[in-house]
Amino acid sequence: MATSPSSDRGAWSGKLGFVLAAAGSAIGLGNIWRFPYMAAEGGGGIFVLVYLGCVLAIGIPVLFAELSIGRATERNPVGAFKKLVPGTWWSAVGGMGVLAGFAILAFYSVIAGWTVGYLWMAITGTFGPDVDAAASAEIFSGLIGSAGPAITLTVLFLGVTAVVVRGGVAGGIEKASKILMPVLLSVLVLLLIRAVTLPGAGAGLEYLLRPDMSELTPKVFITALGQALFSMSLGMGAMITYGSYFPKDASLPFAGTAVALADMGIALLAGLVIFPALFSAGMDPQGGPGLVFVVLPTVFANMPMGHLFGVLFFACLSIAALTSTISLLEVVVAYFVDEKGWSRPKAALIISLACFVLAVPSALSQGANAWLTDFGWLDVQNIIWGNYGLSIGALLICIFVGWKWGTDKMLQYVEMGGNPVPGRAMFAFVVRYVCPVAIGAVLAFLIITREYF
Ligand code: PFF
Repeated sequence: MATSPSSDRGAWSGKLGFVLAAAGSAIGLGNIWRFPYMAAEGGGGIFVLVYLGCVLAIGIPVLFAELSIGRATERNPVGAFKKLVPGTWWSAVGGMGVLAGFAILAFYSVIAGWTVGYLWMAITGTFGPDVDAAASAEIFSGLIGSAGPAITLTVLFLGVTAVVVRGGVAGGIEKASKILMPVLLSVLVLLLIRAVTLPGAGAGLEYLLRPDMSELTPKVFITALGQALFSMSLGMGAMITYGSYFPKDASLPFAGTAVALADMGIALLAGLVIFPALFSAGMDPQGGPGLVFVVLPTVFANMPMGHLFGVLFFACLSIAALTSTISLLEVVVAYFVDEKGWSRPKAALIISLACFVLAVPSALSQGANAWLTDFGWLDVQNIIWGNYGLSIGALLICIFVGWKWGTDKMLQYVEMGGNPVPGRAMFAFVVRYVCPVAIGAVLAFLIITREYF
């Protein structure tokens, strides 16, 4: 039996607080670090096209499915399923989500640590005018391949995340997002103007915006689906948790759509900054996880006010990462606060310490430890949890809402507080049929073709 929500739960101060915090969760390294690197692996324009399809046809319906579960139950993902269908195995879906949140946080905080390292290097003027592609790649591997800095930066990032989550929903998470999100958008727009006016930028725009149908493979579908879900923080109950703090009298349809569009917009914006810069510098788009980190310093090195742009960019990337690590930790903390009766401070401390232990192999897998590096530990975590874990989670959430709980219930909670959903029947159809069939087909296809990674 689920315990009742403790007084330690909290709530957003209002709709704007929710939009900023949920957009803060959605917008993160997924948009700025992962999207360009997945787009490069998926062949550029074709990936972007499939990704946009996934956001609209799957991401948005799953987002509302999760938010409505949270709103109906005011619980963490496990408690939510326990409340809606007591005594069934459905709470295991929530449990998988909590586990995925923990596992994603363990590798995400390592990359978030790199952004802080880069911020420091930008401030101290490491990216001087002599930084070319080779020098930039060396700076990158130097940072991520040294155990000391990689681990220290991860600890730092997890520590700051824990302090914010300890502060609670309105006090910590919302306050941070309210300031940090608008700053991020402004800097990206400035960088966009710089990137598209670089010589040779047009080739980058073309690469990103013109789909090459011959590049369409099953792997593009799982990568794009995983990316859409990862970027929107879906498939693991983060939006169940954030929806659980949504005020009952505020209107959800607009707020949810705003979050989805903001997330998609920032990913595209990041792509429009990175690829023109990359092509302008004559670099290879197959840059892997180091793409953003290797490409951009060469741009900053050779542009007017590059020092300032560098500092601003990596400050933003750190900020975006923080509002996402907050939500990842929050899912796990909410579970222990709601279900186990822990206090927020205790949950934030213990979970972030445990997460650090799991983060160590990821931090050491970029050159510091030969075995972990050969194994590609961090990449494997990213694919397993980011692509497969979230896709399976989203599939089960759609099956739950579409076939067990009911789309009428979902719509009732989406519409609570005003604003009817346009095309209700269509929306229900998408959740019941389109999403499960599409996600199921992608997973089945991968099993058949064995093109997993
Ligand atoms: N959406 C975040 C990003 O794009 O960086 C990552 C993330 C946060 C994924 C929270 C999943 C999640 F539950």
